[in-house]
Amino acid sequence: TKPLSVAVAGLGTVGAGLLTLLRDNAATIAARAGRPIAVTAVSARDRNRDRGVSIAGLRWYDDPVALAHDPHVDVVVEAIGGTEGQAADLVRAALAAGKPVVTANKALLAVHGAALAQLAEAKGVVLSYEAAVAGGIPAIKALREGLAANDISRVMGILNGTCNYILTQMRERGIEFAQALSEAQKLGYAEADPAFDVDGIDAAHKLAILAALAFGRPVDFAAVHVEGIRSVSALDIRLAEELGYRIKLLGIARRTEAGIEARMHPCMVPVAHPIARVDGVFNAVVAEGDFVGRVVLEGRGAGAGPTASAIAADLIDIARGRATPVWGVAGRDLSQAPSVPMDSR
Ligand code: HSE
Repeated sequence: TKPLSVAVAGLGTVGAGLLTLLRDNAATIAARAGRPIAVTAVSARDRNRDRGVSIAGLRWYDDPVALAHDPHVDVVVEAIGGTEGQAADLVRAALAAGKPVVTANKALLAVHGAALAQLAEAKGVVLSYEAAVAGGIPAIKALREGLAANDISRVMGILNGTCNYILTQMRERGIEFAQALSEAQKLGYAEADPAFDVDGIDAAHKLAILAALAFGRPVDFAAVHVEGIRSVSALDIRLAEELGYRIKLLGIARRTEAGIEARMHPCMVPVAHPIARVDGVFNAVVAEGDFVGRVVLEGRGAGAGPTASAIAADLIDIARGRATPVWGVAGRDLSQAPSVPMDSR
């Protein structure tokens, strides 16, 4: 059978991780996808950098947007990042050209998700984004498919691996914030600009995506209350521990009578709560549905392997022809839900 021909834009931690996974697990993936999945074209900033995986024999493009117009490409994977510029141009061009897109770009989706969803639906192609939220945890598939029959009242979680790693290392080893951050960067967890991690923005992007999915309407990102972990000190962590709490950067989105309320800030979590014991690079996603009750998912939220695992799962869905439309809300009103900023409460 004809392989699914994939173009990958961006060969940083995520893109290179995907190439490695598709190479190492090629047989398993082909069996589950019903046909081989082959990367045939790539684009990145530097052609010659050593990424630990070969790109020899793949078509090379200096301009990622050109991938959208390669007639031999079936699917485009966007692993560049950022809300504007090449990532946004590529995703729009690929959808406009009628090619399905798989993206790990939470910032792009949190800000332009509704417009991209409309474009994808108009073109009859899918925009898949399992990797955009909580790394390797299949949170999107769980909410969109597994919990599809429920009315969701609340979705929350630990959504940034870098912050959770930093808070964990500060608690367990008593090290300083700056040292823990530099370790998280070396491990490939942090964003290109780690301010997005430590200021809570990256986690808030993911929360906005989860909330849009859970509540069936895009969330106004500007109305999400966002606080990061810069002001959390080693002393705060120790005092919290003495009182029986762990400090976690938590995102919480819930349905209220006035609209959807979404907030991201450090929280004191009682040690007995399942979320309190989610440590290191692990993330957790908690959803509360009217029939299912509480569902807790936990797994690695950042890094090459987990993120590649989520992207490859989307590619397998596309290869099988069972990918679901963008928000799983085809035909619904995609105008933004009224969001309730925290300070108005
Ligand atoms: N910088 C992100 C994190 C990567 O630390 O969670 C995964 O989106």
